[in-house]
Amino acid sequence: MTTPNPEKQPLTALVNREAPLDPAQYEARGGWRGIRRALSMSPDDVIEEVKNSKLRGRGGAGFNTGLKWSFVPKEPAKDRLKYVVANGDEMEPGTFKDRILVEGNPLQLIEGMMITGHAIQADHGIIFLRGEYHLGLERLQKAVIQAREAGWLGKNIQGSGFDFDIHVHPSGGRYICGEETALITALEGRRANPRSKPPFPQVGGLWGAPTVVNNIETFSNVPPILANGKEWYLGLSNCEDGGTKLYGVSGRAKNPGVFELPLGTSLGVILNDYAGGMQDGYKLRAFLPGGASTAFLGAEHENILMDYPSPEKAGSRLGTGLAILLDDRTCPIGMLKNLEHFFAQESCGWCTPCRDGLPWVERLLTVIEDGQGTQEDIDRLHDAARMIGPMGRTFCAHAPGAIAPLSSGLTLFAEDFQRHIRQQRCTFSQGRSAEQA
Ligand code: NAI
Repeated sequence: MTTPNPEKQPLTALVNREAPLDPAQYEARGGWRGIRRALSMSPDDVIEEVKNSKLRGRGGAGFNTGLKWSFVPKEPAKDRLKYVVANGDEMEPGTFKDRILVEGNPLQLIEGMMITGHAIQADHGIIFLRGEYHLGLERLQKAVIQAREAGWLGKNIQGSGFDFDIHVHPSGGRYICGEETALITALEGRRANPRSKPPFPQVGGLWGAPTVVNNIETFSNVPPILANGKEWYLGLSNCEDGGTKLYGVSGRAKNPGVFELPLGTSLGVILNDYAGGMQDGYKLRAFLPGGASTAFLGAEHENILMDYPSPEKAGSRLGTGLAILLDDRTCPIGMLKNLEHFFAQESCGWCTPCRDGLPWVERLLTVIEDGQGTQEDIDRLHDAARMIGPMGRTFCAHAPGAIAPLSSGLTLFAEDFQRHIRQQRCTFSQGRSAEQA
């Protein structure tokens, strides 16, 4: 990562991957200003400030954060149990942004959860962390203990009368545990099956209690918003929504990684100015804008803004904002097969279209990639995409997410599908590019 500018990169300014700041160092560098200001405001005013900052959920769906908090019933914490849950089950393929925040600056996440606790009048927070993030777990647990010892967590925080404490819970290690209702079910000690919504967690979440679930990056945005105000936050972005975004690329870029940039930066700028451009001998052919569960966009879209509306207008979604690149020497059918293998394996098995449909899709792609496919197999893939893809046929967004790259890939790479059928082999396996194949 490049050296962050604290005025323009509030998410990474205090990140230190070698040794995260302790509570006193964090305070000396401007930390805890957000919670101090929040505690001087009413819960409803904090919600309004965050709503008007136009912070949208950074987990992938982009729901307005303050609006989500506003749905929580208003009783004080002493009269009604409520929970603040941080979703750190970062398992989206190609997405590795929250890891940087939990390993490098866990106190900003903790402060963001405290502000949320004040806003929704909850006194209990839980951080649900991807099971493989061992260093993140160690650092989070240490940060929680340090914050408690320094009087920033627990009863009567800094003499304010506000009570809030946090527990850290490592995930059992399945992709579906990151789906917010499955995450809640997992926290209850049960098999992580998603539940239908409504009721949304804000009214009926963990053990039936009102629960706000936000992504780690989302919470980490909250302290700077409260510390510096919504106008400052709105001014950080290149688009109508507020703030910066942790963007990134993986694939054949020279310098794959994560970069904090104004929300609404184009993939072309992220790739060429920050990730060093494509590796020599490779051209960008297409990209998944934000993780494996977004639709492919062709390279001609590399200059659209990576804000929330623009990728949607082009036929995809921003998702997590960490793009996966497809170059011109990689077989798109092989890439699709790998993606669908992941989704098939990670289906929780609850809904039939997802449990049975995704392995079927994976088998069809395997056969076509191997040069054994027929035109009927391509037709079956189109049918499967039509049957499994639409929202509402399954409890959660796992199957629709899995079908997004397939549907777009069937259109964008139609000629590659046909060539695999015609030539009965994969031409990319001989090192040819898309143009030579
Ligand atoms: P969603 O759009 O159903 O919900 C997003 C959030 O807004 C949820 O917290 C939900 O409770 C709230 N919400 C939505 N509509 C609401 C309403 N009418 N009333 C009250 N609250 C409402 O999306 P979902 O299924 O939570 O997330 C899907 C996204 O997750 C995908 O876009 C995908 O990109 C992303 N994802 C991220 C992963 C990661 O590792 N970061 C892993 C897998 C998926």
